Amino acid sequence: MRHRLIVPTAAAACLLLAVPASAADATPGAPGIGDSYYPGYGNGGYDVSHYDLRLKYQPATDRLEGTATVLATATQDLSRFNLDFALDVSEVLVGGRKAAFAAKGDHELEITPAAPLDSGRPFTVVVRYGGTPSAVKVGGFTSWLRTRDGGVAANEPEAAWWWFPSNDHPLDKATYDVSVAVPDGTQAISNGRLVSTTSRLGWTRYSWRSGKPQATYLATLAVGRFDITTDTTENGLPVLNAYSKNLGAGAGAAKASVERSAEVADWLSGVFGPYPFDALGGYVPDVPTSYALETQTRPFYSPRQFASGSNVSVVVHELAHQWYGDSVSLKDWRDIWVNEGFARYAQWLWSEKEGEGTAQELADYTYAQHPAEDAFWTVKPGDPGPDNQFHAAVYDRGAIALQALRNTVGDDDFFTILKKWPRDRAYGNASVRDFEVFAEKVSGKPLGELFDTWLFTASKPGAPAARAAGI
Ligand code: ARG
Ligand code: ZN
Repeated sequence: MRHRLIVPTAAAACLLLAVPASAADATPGAPGIGDSYYPGYGNGGYDVSHYDLRLKYQPATDRLEGTATVLATATQDLSRFNLDFALDVSEVLVGGRKAAFAAKGDHELEITPAAPLDSGRPFTVVVRYGGTPSAVKVGGFTSWLRTRDGGVAANEPEAAWWWFPSNDHPLDKATYDVSVAVPDGTQAISNGRLVSTTSRLGWTRYSWRSGKPQATYLATLAVGRFDITTDTTENGLPVLNAYSKNLGAGAGAAKASVERSAEVADWLSGVFGPYPFDALGGYVPDVPTSYALETQTRPFYSPRQFASGSNVSVVVHELAHQWYGDSVSLKDWRDIWVNEGFARYAQWLWSEKEGEGTAQELADYTYAQHPAEDAFWTVKPGDPGPDNQFHAAVYDRGAIALQALRNTVGDDDFFTILKKWPRDRAYGNASVRDFEVFAEKVSGKPLGELFDTWLFTASKPGAPAARAAGI
């Protein structure tokens, strides 16, 4: 916005005209990117293209320290901007010059550069920092999981601000170089390809590169003592899996599942089209949590996933997310169904292929298992609310919705949709409604009622709707 013409006095007008336009017009970037569930997550005023993280972690003390170099471009004339971050910052440079900074709230780092940043101009931010991430609470908890011999950053949506400063929202994806020094004998695992391992002065530095756009919550870091396996896929992709040395009797079941990642990714390529990234794998640290997470190229699995034996289904789920969630990411956290509905449905397709029950049978079973009075039906998968983002309804009713779509448009169009969506939207963002519009376009059928019934109604769809959907 230009205000100079309405400045009341000539003296003030001269003053304003004497300084660069950006200084006169620059305004602070918003402290949130505008998410409907999490207004304070992400930031406004700039767009990140790359994170370079050069870190050091000492498992004995849980001390993480280092330097983040963030490459970004201003999207407005910026007087000030925020990064999302929770550790202690000792210095910030913007464009090589010292910048003023202040911690705001529990996860905002407010940075005021020495001079305003012009809209459209790339700039570099260097942040020096350190802390004990397991001791830092944001919103009452920490996502930094301590293990017997290290620590892990893996959670959704909150994970990044315990280990690097970022524009923490899937709308702003970037590439990553993550380089972490750990005591000799310990490993550091992250996303993408392991580019180099060097050792000196008792520390081994692991340097990882994730070369395709990646959302902040999909960046992961795990430090500990791991057994590492490597391989190459038929297409030449490097496969690297890592298993904590503390898995004990559960190591066999974990390996019997995660070692099948390449086979699963191959099969998924037949359903969803070419694998979108340049590396593949999974890791299983010795954490007490029960969830898994689709961290990009290298999903995180809790040992509990394999407590009663192999579980290839969870590998199918997390690898399905590489297309649905990681390459095509949600626009707003409200759109979580574009991730979870499809990852669950991929498990149903795997079951169908393995002869363990067809997707139709699983949809029927799930529909029948929850009586109308079950709270399950009060959660709308298309807008579940922040407290129910990972409610079973998002996954299971979300997958029933896809079975209903399949029955409405027919197998040909349905599988065309499943393959074409990740191609059309590769490395981008999309909403539930975007998918609805896309499915209507491919099938030539109006689908508003179907989506409203299965994703946006807070009660059990009646038998007629279920029958029409073949359920
Ligand atoms: N996207 C993950 C999955 O479905 C879910 C993560 C749930 N997070 C949690 N803290 N429980 O694989
Ligand atoms: Zn999932």
